[in-house]
Amino acid sequence: MHLLCKTVVLLTVVVAIRAEKNDLTRDLKVILPSGDKMSVIGFGTGGVRGIRGIENVTKILDDVLGAGYRLIDTAAAYENEEDIGKALKELLPKYNLTRKDIFVTSKLAASKEAFGENAYKALKQSFQRFGFDYIDLYLIHFPGYFPPPGPNTNFSTLRDETWKQLVKGQKEGLTRNLGVSNYNIRHLTELLNNDHGVKPAVNQVEWHPEYHQDELLEFCKKQGIALQAYFSLGGVENKTTLLEKPDVKHIATKLGKTPGQVLLRWAVQQNVLVIPKSRSRKHMEQNLDLNFEIPEYDMNILSNLKQPGKYIWNPDTII
Ligand SMILES: NC(=O)c1ccc[n+]([C@@H]2O[C@H](COP(=O)([O-])OP(=O)(O)OC[C@H]3O[C@@H](n4cnc5c(N)ncnc54)[C@H](OP(=O)(O)O)[C@@H]3O)[C@@H](O)[C@H]2O)c1
Repeated sequence: MHLLCKTVVLLTVVVAIRAEKNDLTRDLKVILPSGDKMSVIGFGTGGVRGIRGIENVTKILDDVLGAGYRLIDTAAAYENEEDIGKALKELLPKYNLTRKDIFVTSKLAASKEAFGENAYKALKQSFQRFGFDYIDLYLIHFPGYFPPPGPNTNFSTLRDETWKQLVKGQKEGLTRNLGVSNYNIRHLTELLNNDHGVKPAVNQVEWHPEYHQDELLEFCKKQGIALQAYFSLGGVENKTTLLEKPDVKHIATKLGKTPGQVLLRWAVQQNVLVIPKSRSRKHMEQNLDLNFEIPEYDMNILSNLKQPGKYIWNPDTII
């Protein structure tokens, strides 16, 4: 119950935690600058072996909603926005839910066709594929695109134009909130300095015991930007072994939890939001049940694993 007795503050982003007896961590929400509430624990549908195809998406989202998730993370690149929209239309009534009970994040593709002055059009396409009246949060997936137009491409001007285009889409109501993904402090500082009147609400980055940028978390807290982790479980389909690490397993055994719960709780305990993916109902439920505290000693052990480092695309190389 410890966590539930606290109110965690991400500066202007407030994590409202109710101290009522039967509350579970699944109910934790951050309040974004728009006033919208976003779940601390969401469900990821992309990454390696993303969840695709209408039958598959419907079957998995049925379990996702049944388990209690209310945030779904997708992206243009995952090629499942349309299927998620259709599946939600079918499934929401079954769970007595409406569109406003669900928070959907999507992302702008890291491609030439979506970047710069094409960004508004790309947002509109995501919006149309999804098929509801709005997207909750739209992120720039990466601070550059692939393949870059040339060696050492400076994406700075293009990034600025991309943000301006997305702000236009937000003003039209295509998305309620805007954010970024894979941005480092340099990219965020540039965006904040350019000041188009809308600050990013969220920065979604790779974040797990083997790769975490503590300065970035501090920076985001100061700016009121919620930091959201991907690969919290090691993105194990990438053939990583984070869930198998002896330290992770030992702490899990000691606390009577699973290694997956320990890895997710490690992030949440630092005010980092999480979006684990799973095809297993049992794992989905475990991943929502993070209502325990990792002692400081064990938090430090996890924070110091720091090897082998980043698993995928490194934004630090993007100028
Ligand atoms: N912004 C970006 O650039 C970016 C990049 C990558 C990913 N993402 C987002 O982040 C989400 C998460 O990343 P991810 O899906 O690649 O990796 P992940 O969530 O770290 O790992 C998913 C894997 O963990 C397993 N798993 C889940 N819960 C478990 C548990 N309790 N115990 C043991 N194993 C468990 C799953 O297998 P089972 O099916 O057997 O449970 C699955 O193989 C993605 O879905 C995507 O939405 C964003």
